[in-house]
Amino acid sequence: MVSEQVAQVLVASNRGPVTYTLGEDGSLDARRGGGGLVSGLSAVDDKLWVCAALGDGDREAVRRGVGEPGVRMLDIDPDVHAAAYNDIANSVLWFVHHMLYQTPLEPVFDAEFRSRWESYRAYNRAFAEALAEEAGEGAAVLVQDYHLALVPGMLRSLRPDLRIAHFSHTPWAPVDYFRMLPDAVAGELLSGMLGADRVGFLTRRWADAFEACAVDRLGGLNGTQVSVHALGADADFLRARSREADVEERMAALREQIGGTGRKTVVRVDRTELSKNIVRGMHAYRELLDTRPEWRERVVHVAFAYPSRQDLAVYRAYTAEVQRVADAINSAYGTPGWTPVVLHVKDDFARSLAAYRLADVALVNPIRDGMNLVAKEVPVVSDDGCVLVLSREAGAWEELSEDAITVNPYDVSGTADALHEALTMPDGERAERTKRLAAAATALPPKQWFLEQLEALGG
Ligand code: G6P
Repeated sequence: MVSEQVAQVLVASNRGPVTYTLGEDGSLDARRGGGGLVSGLSAVDDKLWVCAALGDGDREAVRRGVGEPGVRMLDIDPDVHAAAYNDIANSVLWFVHHMLYQTPLEPVFDAEFRSRWESYRAYNRAFAEALAEEAGEGAAVLVQDYHLALVPGMLRSLRPDLRIAHFSHTPWAPVDYFRMLPDAVAGELLSGMLGADRVGFLTRRWADAFEACAVDRLGGLNGTQVSVHALGADADFLRARSREADVEERMAALREQIGGTGRKTVVRVDRTELSKNIVRGMHAYRELLDTRPEWRERVVHVAFAYPSRQDLAVYRAYTAEVQRVADAINSAYGTPGWTPVVLHVKDDFARSLAAYRLADVALVNPIRDGMNLVAKEVPVVSDDGCVLVLSREAGAWEELSEDAITVNPYDVSGTADALHEALTMPDGERAERTKRLAAAATALPPKQWFLEQLEALGG
């Protein structure tokens, strides 16, 4: 225990605000993350963030008692964590909410699944127990995401005095798709979340889907309130950060790679994640070059696909596929002075901001996405205006549809047409749309987003 039950605001999430890497000389290097929760929590006192130790560095930090004030990392048995995080949360639950199962990727609910489900429970229990230990009388506890769906119910029975919220950063599956889960598992997930006073979602669409599943499986919401908090981009931070010297340097390097004069750019920035639909995006770009040869040598697809969840074979295979398709386009169409696809796979935030500033077109075409902050960040930092080609299945579409060019993420030809339309949009219209997109994208900045949830919980 790091505190004597003084925390009045607690956040619980699998991934915490800091990660440690263990150097070869035994040193521990701390890397801090950003995001809505980090900036929201900065506004409150007496707070604690409970998260999981995710790798060797984090585990070593826990063992040595190294840590940040206000953060408690749970050193959960690595096998239990791997089963809960990789096999249940990121495989089954992520796949159900993003509707990613399609033959031959099928869900398997057998004895092995049952034993993994036990690990998921144990992992959730470790969080609930730590929160019960740390929370002050009547404290507000904000539990995050599909990793921790069972925590609210478990915590409620340990500490009935607490005010508990759960927030989903993902979509929620439609009823007929959610029915794929074994009934007992579906019921346990829903009742776990309904142990909270409030459950929150990024859009009305996901909130309605959750409610429909709760009615279908449990007959109702059991007194829990459902609310929508549409996280927006952090304009002040992004504008300042994107003007720093390291971003300028990366812009110069990118311009060099793009080459040519007056060449246009179609930019995308994602984790290498199946739901992001990177491969279909590349097929659409290829079709653009194929069916409208006037674009050859005049456009470059700048694709940043950062490694994600590499413990899972299906993610490793997807990463390889992205690389393969990019290479195939470059060998089919490339010329000595023109590389049609510039693919970067090493995570670099400054370079992402550089690409946002340069982009003529941003391609955000996920199959499904809770929100998608890239769609909201690009218009905020863009130098000369950027056309947003946006999937109607991204949460951000609810707020940005009027000024984006909408695509059905499965429709490759439709996406190629949208890219052409975006690339040919007159400058004036592009600038106007970018301005309106930036305003809509920043309607609820991270700090307000967090405080709004806290307030709804009565704190
Ligand atoms: C999504 C989830 C987050 C998760 C993030 C990165 O946005 O909603 O909970 O942290 O992806 O995934 P990772 O598995 O690397 O934490």
